[in-house]
Amino acid sequence: MRGLITLKELKTEKILELIKYAEKLKKGFRISYPDKKIATLFFENSTRTHYSFQVALMNLGISIIDLNADTSSVRKGETLYDTVRTFEALGVDGVIIRHSKDEYYNDLKNIQIPIFNAGDGAGSHPTQSLLDLMTIHEEFGGFKGLKCCIVGDISHSRVAHTNIEIMERLGMEVYISGPEEFNDHSAKWIPFDEAVETMDIVMLLRVQFERHKEKMKMTVEEYHEKYGLTVERMNKMKENAIIMHPAPINRGVEIADEVAECPKSRIYKQMTNGVYIRMAVISDSLDGNL
Ligand code: CP
Repeated sequence: MRGLITLKELKTEKILELIKYAEKLKKGFRISYPDKKIATLFFENSTRTHYSFQVALMNLGISIIDLNADTSSVRKGETLYDTVRTFEALGVDGVIIRHSKDEYYNDLKNIQIPIFNAGDGAGSHPTQSLLDLMTIHEEFGGFKGLKCCIVGDISHSRVAHTNIEIMERLGMEVYISGPEEFNDHSAKWIPFDEAVETMDIVMLLRVQFERHKEKMKMTVEEYHEKYGLTVERMNKMKENAIIMHPAPINRGVEIADEVAECPKSRIYKQMTNGVYIRMAVISDSLDGNL
């Protein structure tokens, strides 16, 4: 399949190349594809990914076709394959897809146009990981030896799963923390208060209530007390350590309101970097490299 489905299919050198290309775009380099049309197909809610892909497409001079799943023939039972096959028949040059089904892309093996995965269930979110890596690269100038702890609803998080694999591949030390009920053993577990004091990057996750089959075993107030990044905990972080979060954030649950935009927070910088990473991915694909 063309485009970008997961980061596992990309060599480490390619990932570093995309980050450098995004940094060049952020510094003002411009490239335009005025004859291209790309469709955004979001079957699951999104603010950042949906609209930063659209800003990226606008910055590249690409025409955008935005599917409204509620008014399309999806509501008449059209399959994902038939929706995408239709856009391909209409002559679009690529599709950006978010879907709640894990590995939805396995249904699309017959599609020839590039597919950009904007998140599949609890599976992968490759452009989120790339923008996270770009933010870390901008901050520290590299990856090797950096310590990152991902905290929270690990078991339901496509961001955690994608980041653990690629961060380890880049030589980072990756840990997980938070309530035991969300521990899927995808990395080494560390107590949260120890993580706060020792990590270079504390990456918080939202509790994804919409993916839970059972109710969380604690209240949101208990969660904040035990695992929330409060001002008191933030003050114990290393001097140069940073706070990241893919967002949306639940202020007062995994992060205190005052901490969300404190000097250590890179949360809004991550969103800005998302535009440039998505420009880099789409441009590289339209140039025939992805
Ligand atoms: N980080 C992220 O994927 O946010 P959205 O769900 O708003 O796209």
